[in-house]
Amino acid sequence: MTGLDREAARLQERFGRPGVILFEAGALGGVVAVLRAGDGVCVVALQGAQVLSWIPQPAEPDVLWLSPMSKLGTGKALRGGIPVCWPWFGPYTDATAGLPAHGFVRTAAWTVESTSATQDRTALTLGVALTEQQQTIAGHLSATLRVTLGTELELYLTTANAGTTPVTISEALHSYFAVGDIENAYVTGLDGRSYLDQLTGLEAVQNGPVTFDRETDRIYWDTSGSLAVGDKTVKRAIGIASAGSASTVVWNPWLEKSARLGDMPPGSHRHMLCVETANAGPRSAVVIAPGQTHTLSCRISSNKT
Ligand code: BG6
Repeated sequence: MTGLDREAARLQERFGRPGVILFEAGALGGVVAVLRAGDGVCVVALQGAQVLSWIPQPAEPDVLWLSPMSKLGTGKALRGGIPVCWPWFGPYTDATAGLPAHGFVRTAAWTVESTSATQDRTALTLGVALTEQQQTIAGHLSATLRVTLGTELELYLTTANAGTTPVTISEALHSYFAVGDIENAYVTGLDGRSYLDQLTGLEAVQNGPVTFDRETDRIYWDTSGSLAVGDKTVKRAIGIASAGSASTVVWNPWLEKSARLGDMPPGSHRHMLCVETANAGPRSAVVIAPGQTHTLSCRISSNKT
């Protein structure tokens, strides 16, 4: 028995629920929780509290894309699923500080706080607190991620400020959705919204659905509500209903950038599309008062079209 097997067995004894929540030492080299509800199955890595897979029905392809080059426990964030970017999104404001992009917790070991199951919903809550050294940079913060699986997949990222001064954060549930072919995929629900094009630094206004024929990296503002990823190849629409979110990031690295990233096989940019429920960029950072909490959430659905 390896150390990972022992850790999975310990968690199973304390938090596992026969038939609906199983902790196992996953093939990716880390402990994962496998949640089941109805016909759906969802896999969550304890590293980074990262949802790796959601298959709503046995015959349906995964709603989430995960790079086949992914490996847990390497000190590097996994490419795919739903990474948690927290307590900042993108590069740290002071580029000279040498801090990781997308915050401290993508590679952190989150702890299991609780599990629950009813007849049609299964839930897992993971938690993480900043270390003392991280607190000197980002404030006296802790976070929980609650993942609830039913006919839909829901994620609630709650930040608590236990300090004595207000703390400003940015964050994202950085969902990598699986699409049949990026040039046959589109995002609805952003028509008329203004966005920052992160590739040019310019602001623009969206006209119609967002479509893709090149590298795209945008932060759309004032986007709380419902969006969808349409996929003409797989013939499904992935719905994303967010709350506590003032912005949405839409990202596809396309050919050259994905080759530079080093953890995406050639051509795999065609099969993924990030539509991220966020509070990202200067216009949507969140200020959390001492003793207060803030929750960012998304509810993801999958519908045949
Ligand atoms: C997106 C950003 O959310 O994440 C991109 O908008 C960034 O600018 C991408 O390149 C991936 O980031 P990382 O750190 O996972 O390579």
